[in-house]
Amino acid sequence: EKGTYPHFMLKEIDEQPFVIRNIIQKYQNEDGTVRLDDEIRGAMKAADRIYIIAAGTSYHAGLVGKQLIEKIAQRPVEVHIASEFLYNMPLLSENPLFIFISQSGETADLRGVLVDVKKKGYPALTITNVPGSTLSREADFTLHTYAGPEIAVASTKAYTAQMAVLTLLAVDTAKARGIELDFDPLQELAIVSSAMETLCDQKEKLELIARDYLAVTRNCFFIGRAADYFVCLEGALKLKEISYIQAEGFAGGELKHGTIALIEDGTPVIAIATQEHVNLSIRGNVKEVAARGAYPCIISMEGLDQDGDAFVLPKVHEYLTSLITVIPLQLISYYAALHRDCDVDKPRNLAKSVTVE
Ligand code: M6R
Repeated sequence: EKGTYPHFMLKEIDEQPFVIRNIIQKYQNEDGTVRLDDEIRGAMKAADRIYIIAAGTSYHAGLVGKQLIEKIAQRPVEVHIASEFLYNMPLLSENPLFIFISQSGETADLRGVLVDVKKKGYPALTITNVPGSTLSREADFTLHTYAGPEIAVASTKAYTAQMAVLTLLAVDTAKARGIELDFDPLQELAIVSSAMETLCDQKEKLELIARDYLAVTRNCFFIGRAADYFVCLEGALKLKEISYIQAEGFAGGELKHGTIALIEDGTPVIAIATQEHVNLSIRGNVKEVAARGAYPCIISMEGLDQDGDAFVLPKVHEYLTSLITVIPLQLISYYAALHRDCDVDKPRNLAKSVTVE
């Protein structure tokens, strides 16, 4: 039920702080450490390489998951688009573990890969919001994202929940491998949850940004580097899916290799700057597009912000920035769609669960 909300999407965006708290509770031991299934821990430890398979927004969560698992647990990870995997199968390692990420647990493209992987005898873990779903039943293990039902076609809370669960999976694997962490993951996730609340309270500001930059434009670009690049892909998908604005996410450094030719007078460019080590370079990219007439909107993080930034995010742990950066992007897309009279919860040509290949 929508309750007092005009749309499920807005309700689901607002639920994100609670979802993260719920995940902390579900995966917490009494002594405040992370608790995951022993069998999953064993499978993660035994794998010499992890293959993440997903589609759409879940694929974008997978890209973030790769960074988390590689940085925290020091295991190599590849991320693949499900519909491409069978046709472009990479040379697999000796002991692979497959992770299927799917909100619905019913996506046909993923199921095709899962059936093939099981035929070959490889272990598979499904990370899903629907534990009784096909992908969950057919895999060896399931991790539940505990986001509650997601009704809007545009995925919001499922994405942040997937990233939170991937963080805990990385932390648990690190523990199993005897790697000492220099941060408390559950405490850092609690900080993320509070930061999400702060962001959900800034809707008026984000509505103004949406109106100013996106009410009439034909297209919009998102640029970022490192972890911010992956959120750009998700921000662009959200915007095109519900507002029908042609939107693309780019790595800041790729602009000069072609994309910058698309910049015209007034083209909105949303730039994300939450990563200290690339802050100067992404700001350099903003100058390059501005010099060619773009209308830049910089979303930065406390401590890295500069005068003139359109929106500043509260500071969270450097590994977890994507969980909060996406919230203003979700809200900007939501308000852009409203301004353009689009059907926010049921965009044209799309289904919530894609059960055909
Ligand atoms: O249920 P799944 O996570 O497997 O769905 C994958 C995609 O179809 C889904 O994320 C889609 O891209 C969303 N509509 C994006 O908002």
